[in-house]
Amino acid sequence: MGKVIAGATLSVDGFMADRNGDLSQLYPDLETLRFTDQLEESIRTTGAVLMGRRAYTMGDPETIADNYEYQIPIFVLTHSVPEQLPRENERLAFTFVTDGIESAMRQAKAAAGEKDVTVVGGASTFQQCLSAGLVDELHIDVMPVLLGDGLRLFGRQAAELPRLERLAVMELPAGRTHISFRIVK
Ligand SMILES: NC(=O)c1ccc[n+]([C@@H]2O[C@H](COP(=O)([O-])OP(=O)(O)OC[C@H]3O[C@@H](n4cnc5c(N)ncnc54)[C@H](OP(=O)(O)O)[C@@H]3O)[C@@H](O)[C@H]2O)c1
Repeated sequence: MGKVIAGATLSVDGFMADRNGDLSQLYPDLETLRFTDQLEESIRTTGAVLMGRRAYTMGDPETIADNYEYQIPIFVLTHSVPEQLPRENERLAFTFVTDGIESAMRQAKAAAGEKDVTVVGGASTFQQCLSAGLVDELHIDVMPVLLGDGLRLFGRQAAELPRLERLAVMELPAGRTHISFRIVK
């Protein structure tokens, strides 16, 4: 059985998008990131991806299937299936899950089999996974930038927060620092 890994790229002050929803300062290395050992390893070990509807809409439904780094089943948490269904290919299929985070995770795990499920965001989906105790590891990339305001990955959470144990730290190009944590259960 694989793990559930929730990953995000953050500014030093903890934002996953700036106040305008822009991610460019967090991904100046978008072209080269795909070729880092860290992402290659994630692509090799991930069997299904889980994302929220807003993260999904960042991509173009016509071209996302062939351009997305993870060529595997993708599960999108949403209240409604989009009218324009995205184009798929023989490896990447989309499933729009309308009955909640637990169901989305159950389906993603079944599709992933022995491999990992990677949760790629956004904040709402990430937080729901964490609050429901569905995450085994957090993989946080910190970029050397302060955004001042924007979308926080971690808001004020009423639920008890889990204890973390650091697993590894990796220095990547473009000032990116990858830190992985195990969630102590
Ligand atoms: N820095 C990074 O690593 C990174 C990565 C990914 C995304 N992002 C940023 O994160 C932003 C999106 O984050 P977000 O928190 O706003 O949204 P999100 O988690 O991507 O998606 C939220 C949406 O998913 C659906 N949803 C969430 N929970 C649900 C539930 N329990 N049942 C049914 N549907 C549910 C709802 O959409 P509907 O009601 O429309 O169906 C909701 O509006 C993006 O705009 C992007 O800027 C950053």
